Amino acid sequence: MTGDDENGSSGLCVSGLRHSFGSRRVLADVELHIEPGEIVCLLGPSGCGKTTTLRLIAGLETLQAGRISWNGAVLADATGAVPPEQRGVSLLFQDFALFPHLTVAQNVAFGLVDMAKSERDGRIHEVLEQVGMLDYADTYPHRLSGGEQQRVALARARAPRPRIILLDEPFSNLDTQRRNQLRDLCLHVLKRSQSASLVVTHNAEEAMFMADRLAVMRDGAIVQSGSPEEIYFRPSSIFVAGLFGELNEIPGRVGQGRVETPLGPVEAGHIADDTDVTVLIRPEAVAVIAPDDGAAVGRVLAARLLGRTSLLHLSVSGDGSPDLHLHARVAERHLPPEGSVVGLRLDRQNVFVFPAEEDRA
Ligand SMILES: Nc1ncnc2c1ncn2[C@@H]1O[C@H](COP(=O)(O)OP(=O)(O)OP(=O)(O)O)[C@@H](O)[C@H]1O
Ligand SMILES: [Mg+2]
Repeated sequence: MTGDDENGSSGLCVSGLRHSFGSRRVLADVELHIEPGEIVCLLGPSGCGKTTTLRLIAGLETLQAGRISWNGAVLADATGAVPPEQRGVSLLFQDFALFPHLTVAQNVAFGLVDMAKSERDGRIHEVLEQVGMLDYADTYPHRLSGGEQQRVALARARAPRPRIILLDEPFSNLDTQRRNQLRDLCLHVLKRSQSASLVVTHNAEEAMFMADRLAVMRDGAIVQSGSPEEIYFRPSSIFVAGLFGELNEIPGRVGQGRVETPLGPVEAGHIADDTDVTVLIRPEAVAVIAPDDGAAVGRVLAARLLGRTSLLHLSVSGDGSPDLHLHARVAERHLPPEGSVVGLRLDRQNVFVFPAEEDRA
């Protein structure tokens, strides 16, 4: 192994990570940095390399190229590696991997072998209390629900005060209600710790809920990282914008720095004139207003209450171009009659313009 990082940065640093299984390259170039006490969510579609990245950080997979370090000291690089058990890493997977023959307290004690008994008992008490499972200390895992098992798994992962905690889709085997409860609990438990936390998910809303910062992964590389606000409001590609749900797409062409759309002109940013573009409009960016103040208009094809929002299907006429079918998502109950005409205004912070040929698969 080579020595410490020259830059001496704090927390977990992953740089230039590449990995292949046989001839198949699955990680092309992964860069991550997580400060102690910070939660970073790794967000990306199935098969993009999230679990492989976690396994490399944990030392469960042999590093092929790149470097992983903690506070500047190398954990693994091309010349060698610190063994997994000496990295100060805890892992939490989706499949509640508790030991079935051990009680809840014994499961939590598993990673605390080096502690004196009184200290260990105190720590078990503390972490089980944090996750609301103290009353179950002597219970065996098979008597617990999935959500309860995952709380214990979280307590077990936290107990040794790991430097790094890696969570791989920790909520994906739970129903919606338990999932929401557990991710709330998990957020508070992780925020109270000084661990660098990396949470894998392919659910953008979950990532926004958990993350101090997001790292978006695609085809084995981090394509954008930043605060949830940066990624949501300044997506770097059609792919990233599309992670946050349905989008209206309008084709257009840049002229004098703007793109004309049936909902009015949109600034093209740095894209050159005469470039074919795709204008992306989040459904919540289409504000529905009274039809009579000079705004664009749309005809209501259907209006559906979705609970906290209503979704309007609209037909919007352009200048000589075919009618557009747009979706508008408005707050609460707003259900104009089918066939009625409504005014439309764009909230530009939820409108994005990208070159049309950009790869979006
Ligand atoms: N041990 C292995 N041998 C061969 N190929 C593997 C191995 N582990 C993973 N892969 C392949 O590497 C790619 C990345 O897998 P990985 O498990 O990292 O994806 P992921 O982003 O975690 O996906 P998911 O969201 O479905 O869990 C996949 O195509 C997978 O089939
Ligand atoms: Mg995975």
